[in-house]
Formats: sequence, C-alpha cells, structure tokens
Amino acid sequence: MGIATTELSPIEQTAFLTEYARAVDSRWARPILGDTLADEVVGKIDYDFEGLGVQTSVVCQTALRAKMLDDRVRAFVHEHPDAVVVDLGAGLDSGYYRVAPPPTVDWYSVDLSGIIAVRDATLPPAPQSHSVVASLADDGWTDGIPADRPAMLIADGLFAFLDEPVIMGIFTHITKHFRSGQLAFNDYGRIGWVSRLAVKLYPQKMFKDVGSQFAYPGFKDAHHPETWNPRLQLVEEASLTEAPEVELFPGWVRVATRLSRHSRTARRKARILRYAF
Ligand SMILES: C[S@@+](CC[C@H](N)C(=O)[O-])C[C@H]1O[C@@H](n2cnc3c(N)ncnc32)[C@H](O)[C@@H]1O
Repeated sequence: MGIATTELSPIEQTAFLTEYARAVDSRWARPILGDTLADEVVGKIDYDFEGLGVQTSVVCQTALRAKMLDDRVRAFVHEHPDAVVVDLGAGLDSGYYRVAPPPTVDWYSVDLSGIIAVRDATLPPAPQSHSVVASLADDGWTDGIPADRPAMLIADGLFAFLDEPVIMGIFTHITKHFRSGQLAFNDYGRIGWVSRLAVKLYPQKMFKDVGSQFAYPGFKDAHHPETWNPRLQLVEEASLTEAPEVELFPGWVRVATRLSRHSRTARRKARILRYAF
C-alpha cells in the first residue's frame, strides 16, 4: 500500500501529472531529463498515474522544461555559491537532487500543506533542502527564507493555475523580500479560449484535471511582467522548440516540434522566461 492521496485538493493533484511525466521520461532508452528519483517517488504513492493518460508530447515538454530550468539554476549557483534557490509550487519535483548544488546553497520548496506532506514522505531528507508550507497567495511564504543572499526563484507548471492578482502579488513581493536575484519559469504564451475549451474536451483525465484548474490565460509579450514590477527585467526568452534536446524526442513529436520552430506563436507556446532584479 503506497502513500494515500485522497486528502489532496485538485490543485495539489496537478503535481502528479508533472511528476509522472518526468518518471516516464526516466524509463526511456534516451531520456531527456533522466530523473530516476521521480520514478521512485511515483512508485511510493497510491495513485492511478497511468489513468492520467499522459501524452508522449507532454512527457517531452515536461522533461525538457525541467532540464532547461535546472541548467539555469546550475549557472546561477555556480556564479553565486552562497545562493538560495526557491522553487515556487514545487510539488514533488526533485530538482534539488538533479542539480546537486554545493553545500553552501540552501534550497526552499514552497507548496500547499497536503502535497508538501507527500513530498516529505517520498523524497530523501537533505540538510540544505527545506520544505515550506505556504500559499503563494499570501506574502508570508517568504518568512524564514533569507533575504540577503542571491536568490534564484523558479516556477515550473505553476502560473497557469493562479489568477492574475495572485501572480502580480508574487512578482511584486519577490523584489520586496529578496535583495537581488533572478526569477525563471515556464510559460505558454497567451492561451486562447479555443485552446482552453479543447483541453476540457479531450478525453484523457490529465487534460480534464488541468483544464478544470486553469486560472490565467497568460500573455504574448515576455516584457509584460515588467509592467507588474519594473524592477524585474527580462533577460531571456528561450523556446523549448529550439533546444538541442528536441533531437531526443521520439518520432512524430520530434518532427512536429522541429516544424513548429517556424511559427512565432508555436515557439511562444513552450518557453522559459527569465528575469533579473
Ligand atoms: C502542475 S503542479 C507543478 C509542480 C512542480 N512544480 C512540478 O514541476 O512538478 C502545480 C503546483 O502548484 C502548487 N500550487 C498551486 N497553487 C498554489 C498556491 N497558491 N500556493 C502554493 N502552491 C500552489 C500545487 O499544489 C502544485 O504542486
């Protein structure tokens, strides 16, 4: 009998989709991320992961964006060995173990209480890895996180589930609390109503779970968050479609992703945005 999940809210359960996608990638002969710990975590949880109906394209995208965020965290902690890393809406993500930062770095994983309980029960403890039970809708999430060290904040698969005032609150609070650092996250560009409706109509459970929790349609222009907080300056917009790891995508997903490089809209639909402050 694995760890029970019946008490988790639907928003917390969205963490199972991304964790399972990374687990599936790790089983492939040519993984993109190769996070075998994700597969171990999945194996400890009493949940019908296969019933989610996770698509191959979702496995590819989830694994690649985690890899791209890991690379940016690695570069930041290399430059700032006294950094704090803060994973917003961390779910079960084992980024800390993949990046393996030096012992001078502290890593904070912020999420809601139910999923943090599953996280703490499934991931190995480490002195520099700290779980923070908090809602990002409340500024108190930074209580207890050092403000005077260079901060690398990341969010993977989070902002589409928060409404705009909450996102703006996070973006403004970051520079009030932390003295300097960066914020990097995955982004889908502007999600039109047709896409949102299609997600709800797909038969797979994963689309229904995600579609029912969508709260923010997003933005096209990567400079848009600078209007929420001018102290955040866009320093990078990187499309997943242009990453070298696309060559590891299986068959038709690789071909379709290569083709999508020719469309500005498609490039924007899967991107990593990074801001400095
Ligand atoms: C799709 S999951 C992504 C989890 C993780 N980043 C990953 O890549 O596996 C979204 C996560 O955001 C968390 N979340 C949503 N709203 C939140 C809030 N207001 N405060 C903190 N975490 C929140 C959920 O509990 C969930 O773990």
